[in-house]
Amino acid sequence: MALQGAPVRCRLLLAVCWAVAAGTAAGAKVVPPPSNLDYSFIQICALNWTWNPPPNISSSCNLEYASDIIINEVPQDIKKWSKDLFRVTDAFLDEEVRFRVRSECRHDNTTEPSPWVETSLLPKGIPGTAAVDLSCVWDNLEYMVCKWRPGENASSDTNYTLFYWFDGLKNPEKCSNYSTDQGIFGCIFSFTSPNVTTISILIRADSEEVRPVCAIKNPTTLVKPATPSQVTLSKINDKIDVKWSESETFPKGCLLYEVKYRNGDLDTGRIIPSEENSVSISGIDPNSKYVFKVKAKPRHGCYSSEFYSDWSEEKSIGDKRDSTISLVLIITIPLIVAVSTIILLVYLKRLKILILPPIPDPREILKRMFGEQNEDSQNCAKDDSMNAYDKLIMEEEIHSLILTETSETPNSEKENR
Ligand SMILES: *[C@@H]1O[C@H](CO)[C@@H](O)[C@H](O)[C@H]1NC(C)=O
Ligand SMILES: *[C@@H]1O[C@H](CO)[C@@H](O)[C@H](O)[C@H]1NC(C)=O
Ligand SMILES: *[C@@H]1O[C@H](CO)[C@@H](O)[C@H](O)[C@H]1NC(C)=O
Ligand SMILES: *[C@@H]1O[C@H](CO)[C@@H](O)[C@H](O)[C@H]1NC(C)=O
Ligand SMILES: *[C@@H]1O[C@H](CO)[C@@H](O)[C@H](O)[C@H]1NC(C)=O
Ligand SMILES: *[C@@H]1O[C@H](CO)[C@@H](O)[C@H](O)[C@H]1NC(C)=O
Repeated sequence: MALQGAPVRCRLLLAVCWAVAAGTAAGAKVVPPPSNLDYSFIQICALNWTWNPPPNISSSCNLEYASDIIINEVPQDIKKWSKDLFRVTDAFLDEEVRFRVRSECRHDNTTEPSPWVETSLLPKGIPGTAAVDLSCVWDNLEYMVCKWRPGENASSDTNYTLFYWFDGLKNPEKCSNYSTDQGIFGCIFSFTSPNVTTISILIRADSEEVRPVCAIKNPTTLVKPATPSQVTLSKINDKIDVKWSESETFPKGCLLYEVKYRNGDLDTGRIIPSEENSVSISGIDPNSKYVFKVKAKPRHGCYSSEFYSDWSEEKSIGDKRDSTISLVLIITIPLIVAVSTIILLVYLKRLKILILPPIPDPREILKRMFGEQNEDSQNCAKDDSMNAYDKLIMEEEIHSLILTETSETPNSEKENR
């Protein structure tokens, strides 16, 4: 750990490899090598390797420097000749980078190139702690959205910080809008510069133990358009017109579109490419429902990006009602049915009373009838006592008649014996 935190300079390995001139042709003069090879960072993800010229070079020598880069022991085969006393290379920081340089008298077969002078830059921090799987997307030419995962050896509370720099910025900027989603880290920063060809992104942590990592990206390869919005459908006879709003951030003609539609009843869809923000589809079945969605893609020639936008929300048109309308219906129909049932029940109760009045209880009727009659006779008796007297006399007469009859019969029987 202590070693990891040691200053960079201590680990700078200046290795001058003197070539053994034994094998070279007799008489060929070896050019002296450059000296004081060193490096410094330019902004965040670039290194400036510098050296001093060799002494005592004859004026007949067309002096140039050849340099080469070796990453993780693999020569990159990007040898370069130059009269400059520096060379700028990308810095990835998470792997060992060796840089070597030598002096040559170009096109002079009387001299031998100098031996290589070499220095190396070792990665800092613990292996496996650097952020991995860094990917960025230039969202609608407005925001750069970068995502990464923590290294497998990084502690779970590692707080990574993203810095970015591009030509035109004085100093690297620190990204400030972070997010984490299921172990994926992200940061969003505003980026609207259309003419920037490279953007450098550095992810590191405050802890020296966490290995930093750099990435250099070409923004035009990262362009992702916004999802097409305000998709509208209109149907005239057997033709459907689909329209959506034009992008406000893309130059005109720099977006291509794909419209996908399907007949609501069938699962398979058809894709129609479009260079404009509308399409017309004719020959449709007027009795079917059609479902549409749209996505956008940057046009090659404007951007060399393969990222499509997300699909727009599905919209439908046709015989079967719009999904939003049917949703409204699904909610309102049972409500209407329930309310009208209640109203109907209440109304029916009243109607029943009108059509079928309550069935009267016969006992009640009889009771009432007799009750009234008794009252009547009593009243009569009070009002007309003479009548009652007559009734009594009549009853007595009938009784006496029966009596006389019954008294006569035994006599007759006796007579017959
Ligand atoms: C690299 O460093 C040298 C020496 O300091 C300087 O002259 C040169 O301009 C630097 N290169 C860049 C690209 O900054
Ligand atoms: C360079 O040449 C001068 C004379 O021309 C000589 O004195 C000096 O020692 C030489 N230096 C080296 C490093 O060869
Ligand atoms: C150098 O090259 C020239 C022609 O390009 C040739 O004539 C000459 O012999 C060469 N000398 C050596 C030492 O190889
Ligand atoms: C993580 O640490 C272990 C042990 O130190 C090491 O063997 C492994 O290579 C590291 N992982 C990575 C991805 O470097
Ligand atoms: C990361 O940030 C959180 C919250 O700001 C803090 O609690 C935690 O200690 C930090 N982790 C490290 C390794 O600094
Ligand atoms: C951070 O990003 C989210 C989108 O992921 C955005 O809604 C929010 O406004 C941003 N916050 C700031 C302070 O930029």
